[in-house]
Order: sequence, then structure tokens, then C-alpha cells
Amino acid sequence: MEIFVADTYKQMSMKAAQDVITLMQASKNKLLCIASGDTPAGLYKEIVSKVKTGALDVSDWKFVGLDEWAGMNGHDEGSCRYHLDKQFFFPLKINKEKISFFNGRAADLEKECATTEDFIKQHGGITVAILGIGLNGHIGMNEPGTSPLLHSHIAEIDPETQAVGQKYFTTPRQLSHGITLGISNLIQARHIILLASGINKAAIVKKALEEEISKQLPVTLLRDHTGFKIYLDAEAAQLVQL
Ligand code: PGA
Repeated sequence: MEIFVADTYKQMSMKAAQDVITLMQASKNKLLCIASGDTPAGLYKEIVSKVKTGALDVSDWKFVGLDEWAGMNGHDEGSCRYHLDKQFFFPLKINKEKISFFNGRAADLEKECATTEDFIKQHGGITVAILGIGLNGHIGMNEPGTSPLLHSHIAEIDPETQAVGQKYFTTPRQLSHGITLGISNLIQARHIILLASGINKAAIVKKALEEEISKQLPVTLLRDHTGFKIYLDAEAAQLVQL
């Protein structure tokens, strides 16, 4: 596990973007696991800007979405896909065939899980997984208590996450369930890039690094992964001794 601390959110995003690009370019298969949330938005902005200026070509990259709220897809304002379409897929005009993303509105969510697993296999596994971290240590929608053995699955959302998740929406939403890649999918990724920024993440970052590995704190389940790198800004790093 490596930790990189930047002074600012912008510097953290720039460094993480550069590392994602380097890792993707060095890999023969190029499947990027892409997470929504406020934290990775700056990283996506960097990648979009590099493509727009001609400094980067992502035409051979493929994408798998980390998670989605049950009952929602890209047509729902505030959904994970909605934000990523706006921040990443639309500006880069990524062809739909290159993206696998859980459709939380599908009648058969188990089938969505199977389709995602097939897509990952078909593309040789996840090259780089970009992740944020929840205030309770969740990763994707793998909430405290999740089994580390799970692949794509339907998850119950922790009450704290249901409350925090309202920030992505303009009107109150029911966020009781989600569909997510499991810890097992992420452990199998070749590289994991986890980002945390801001003072409100300082306490969970400290726990993520210092508490015993346990499924009660899902982020700790990633700690033994040899390609795990954590990117923090100064505020998020405030409580850790480095
Ligand atoms: P955030 O979400 O980046 O919006 O803080 C992180 C997460 O819940 O995984």
C-alpha cells in the first residue's frame, strides 16, 4: 500500500489522473473501473481535459461502473450513471459498447450482475479501479458487514449512506438498495486508486489505515492488495502520521 498526500484537492486529482493514465497505458488490457461521487470528479476533469487537448487518447479504453442505486439508471438525475455521463462519458463521447454499467431500473438485477461479471472477464479483468470512500468506510456500495467474497451483487444501503447520499439529488430519494461490484472484484483489479479529500474524511482515513482489517470497515479489506494506492489532500490526511 502506498500513500500520496497532496496539498490541495486539485493537486491530488492531477497526480491521481496521471497515475491512472500511466497504469492504463502500460497495460495490454485497458478496463477502468469508474466510481461516481464528489471526490473523483477532479480526476475525471483532468482526464477529459487531456483528451480534449490531444495529449491523451482513450479510444482503446473500456469502462465498468462501480455501482448504481436500485431503481435508477442514467435517466435519473443524480444517479451514479447520470453524474458520470455528465463528467466523463458524454464529454469524451465514449461509445456505449465500451461501457458496462449497472442498470438499477432493470427488472432482473441479478442478470445485471451476471452481465457485468461477463464484461469484466471478457476484457481480461479490471486494470485500474478508481474508488472513493464513504464516511463509514464503505467502498462502492459495500457497506459495513459486507462479505469480502462477494462479486457483483445487490446490496442493502446503510442508513448513514442513505442520508449522506441525498447530496447527489435535488429532491429526497429512497436509497435503500444498490447494485455494486463486490470487494472480491476490487481485490482482483490489478491496481486500486482510492481518493479522499476534505476534513470530513480525516477520521475515516485514519481508521482505514490504522484499524484492524475487518468486514465492519470494508476499506480495510483492500489494505493487503499490492497495487493499492491512496491519494489524500492535506485535510483528509490531517489525522494520520505519515
Ligand atoms: P464522495 O463519496 O466522493 O461523494 O464523498 C464517496 C463514497 O461514498 O464512496
